[in-house]
Amino acid sequence: MKVGIIGAGTMGGGIAQAFAQTEGFTVALCDINNEFAANGKNKIAKGFEKRVSKGKMEQADADKILAKITTGTKEICADCDLIIEAAIENMEIKKQTFKELDEICKADAIFATNTSSLSITEIGSGLKRPIIGMHFFNPAPVMKLVEIIAGLATPAELVEKIKKISEDIGKVPVQVQEAPGFVVNRILIPMINEAVGIYAEGIASVEGIDAAMKLGANHPIGPLALGDLIGLDVCLAIMDVLYHETGDSKYRAHTLLRKMVRGKQLGQKTGKGFYDYT
Ligand code: CAA
Repeated sequence: MKVGIIGAGTMGGGIAQAFAQTEGFTVALCDINNEFAANGKNKIAKGFEKRVSKGKMEQADADKILAKITTGTKEICADCDLIIEAAIENMEIKKQTFKELDEICKADAIFATNTSSLSITEIGSGLKRPIIGMHFFNPAPVMKLVEIIAGLATPAELVEKIKKISEDIGKVPVQVQEAPGFVVNRILIPMINEAVGIYAEGIASVEGIDAAMKLGANHPIGPLALGDLIGLDVCLAIMDVLYHETGDSKYRAHTLLRKMVRGKQLGQKTGKGFYDYT
């Protein structure tokens, strides 16, 4: 099966890796230009280099996986069987991207979106085919869960097909109803927002908050380190969706979160967030 991934950022690259390292899948990794797409593949190669240097992977296996990933713009998705869109969390961009793909792709190609909080029904409106939510978690090659989200027009057979494909790449699918943030992000992102508020109020240091949640709640990493891993811009976008869709003030993004995003302190991807990565 050939899988087209739209968006070669953190999530797109991770999803591409998850498919390419499974027997039976090849990947077309796309972005708005060739350079961005090639950068996404380079990041995967860098991750493999580290594993090879630690003796956790053979160079030949890394080369074999990388050879299964081609890069370019969305036109290379014309012969793909499954498209997974992992572009930025912006409704208009996602809708426009799928509209263009609807013209380029095979009639029987499956359309899926990795949106972390937006309405599947709205993303798919006006398309000639149904779409489905296939939501991966960061880092996608490692995290087991895939949330499977059916929109109003998603047929049950498509849900079953995507569950099976998720299992084929070693993931555990959980079906959820369409709702802002689905399950994980509705719980996780307000928790990170709360941690930002606790820090802003001077109740504990960044390190103190993270140590408290690691040692007191057995989380693998603390909420502020997790915000840096996810990207603070992504966290803010999800908080804003939760707030606007529900109108509930409990989902209001903390002003410090918004300020850090405006200042491009987005976490690991910009080298600075709550921690320094330079
Ligand atoms: N890409 C590929 N592999 C990665 C990776 C990455 N970015 N980061 C870590 N790994 C791999 C490592 O290579 C290592 O593999 P091996 O055991 O085979 O060597 C394994 O993961 C463990 O990594 P480390 O030993 O370096 O570090 P760790 O034990 O602390 O684990 C972690 C790292 C898996 C990220 C762990 O800290 C963790 O589970 N954190 C929480 C992650 C989480 O909650 N993610 C969900 C975010 S929410 C989301 O993504 C949804 C959304 O829409 C915003």
